[in-house]
Amino acid sequence: SSTRPLVVAIDGPAASGKGTLARRVAQALGFALLDTGGLYRAVALSLIRRGGDLRDTAAAAATARSLTHGDIENLMADPALRLDSTAQGASIVSAVPDVRAALLDFQRGFAAHPPGGAKGAVLDGRDIGTVICPAADAKLFVTASPEVRAQRRLNELLGRGDAAIYADVLKDMKDRDARDSQRAVSPLVPAADAYLLDTSSLDAAQAFDAAMTFIRSRPAFG
Ligand code: DC
Repeated sequence: SSTRPLVVAIDGPAASGKGTLARRVAQALGFALLDTGGLYRAVALSLIRRGGDLRDTAAAAATARSLTHGDIENLMADPALRLDSTAQGASIVSAVPDVRAALLDFQRGFAAHPPGGAKGAVLDGRDIGTVICPAADAKLFVTASPEVRAQRRLNELLGRGDAAIYADVLKDMKDRDARDSQRAVSPLVPAADAYLLDTSSLDAAQAFDAAMTFIRSRPAFG
């Protein structure tokens, strides 16, 4: 119907620039924003704090199922969500099918009923255009070379005063890419109808312009 909220799906690997892009696109359109990576990070963080083992798939699934909307809100606002250890934990628990299943309704609910009565939602993640919202009105797949992404992540870490070296960051990035791309369930792959946006040689403003040009070209946004 004409009142159905619009959905923009933004997928891509770590440090591709999709988070910044998703924030800018949501702001420009007046849409609600869901960083779905934060949900997997929340599960990992909660499990770690309970003293659980990240490799215990049953514990990871139980943790994902136990999180209330309030828990998710609190965890998503926790500074520890952004730690690299949390990101690695998220990459591990996100390969568990029951964890993904437990987070499905939350994501689809957000897209169908964007908070604050917004007329649409932007979801960013790995499988939004392929699995969570296959009927999204605009799909973008944001990429950049591993070297460019590692350099961006390094700058971010150094910028907040963390000690880090390029070689380690690049290795972690490639490990996480491999895990995210090769897992059996919801691997990181572009949807057939996604617009491929390579940000290797684009700054945030140029990536935003390219994304908005594509989104505005989609029938639902005409
Ligand atoms: O985007 P991010 O770095 O916050 O994501 C953390 C991890 O969560 C990432 O390694 C893969 C996983 N993830 C996922 O499997 N599906 C999503 N939609 C979003 C993130």
